[in-house]
Amino acid sequence: VTHARLRPASLATDGASVRIIDQRALPAALVERDLRTLDEVVDAIATLAVRGAPAIGVCAVAGVAVAMRGYAASSRAVFLRELDDVAARVTAVRPTAVNLAWAVARAVRRAHATDGDGGAILGALQAEAHAVEHDDVAMSRAIGQHALQLLDNPVRALTHCNTGALATAGGGTALAAIYAAHAAGRDVAVYATETRPLLQGARLTAWELQQAGVPVTVLADGAAASLLRLGTVTSVLVGADRIAANGDVANKIGTYALALAAATHGVPFYVLAPKSTVDADSADGRAIPIELRAREELARCGTVPILPDGVAVWNPAFDITPASLVTAIVTDSGVHRPPYRFADT
Ligand code: MRU
Repeated sequence: VTHARLRPASLATDGASVRIIDQRALPAALVERDLRTLDEVVDAIATLAVRGAPAIGVCAVAGVAVAMRGYAASSRAVFLRELDDVAARVTAVRPTAVNLAWAVARAVRRAHATDGDGGAILGALQAEAHAVEHDDVAMSRAIGQHALQLLDNPVRALTHCNTGALATAGGGTALAAIYAAHAAGRDVAVYATETRPLLQGARLTAWELQQAGVPVTVLADGAAASLLRLGTVTSVLVGADRIAANGDVANKIGTYALALAAATHGVPFYVLAPKSTVDADSADGRAIPIELRAREELARCGTVPILPDGVAVWNPAFDITPASLVTAIVTDSGVHRPPYRFADT
């Protein structure tokens, strides 16, 4: 398996299912599943079978197309009314990654702009689901190419969570830069935080990089500051779930601590994301909703209980890194530096 072959979510050619890689099974097994109902799509996104901001968007829009199949024979009015309900339900599953809302809104807009009854609008929704996936591949590629100018040779990058082929339809966001540098023949090695509590770094990033032949070393989240102090890391590369207009970044919990440590030790801190992750409606990080997840994720490691019964937990899935700690933001339109003017590009 190479990263080019990993498709975390994709509308099947017959339009009857969303074919996903069930990321919960990794690294033990590469399991593909077909989601055939709205409930299955909602559950897959909620339980992180499909996760990573752009991949969630691709999955959601394909899921909307699958869910609307049953209305192909309906009138235009009935179809569009049902579509709005389905779209609202999918969009609400995870609040922080704006790509989900962005991809679904894109499909809903196209549906409303399409003439005809249910059958015609369904065809447009399916085409949009394929287009979102296709565009995401191109965005990954562009991010990787733009990022090359920021990377040294050798590259010793520290990353967090999973931002690779499992998180997007293409090669990834932050990992797209790694893959681009590797493909360009640079000497690349990656440090991946394990990313508590759900271990996306250990389970997914380490697996993905190993498959691609990129050297990877995993460390506990709490070891990152000490690694940065050693002076061997050339840059920190992370993705984003939402970027506010001022450059504040929502990303996996622990990103903010990495940014603080990187600033203290003078290591450049780069955020890489498609432009669809930039939310012009969020003026700054305070406007970004942070998803709080279940106690269960901290109370167990796998299936093993690790917390005394009755002890409270605080489990935010994301944090906000202030723009002042970010060296540059790389999108598919190029390298952005403060003061940010994403709307101009
Ligand atoms: O909870 P997850 O696994 O969906 O969180 C994913 C991240 O935080 C990624 O870093 C982010 O989506 C940006 S890269 C695709």
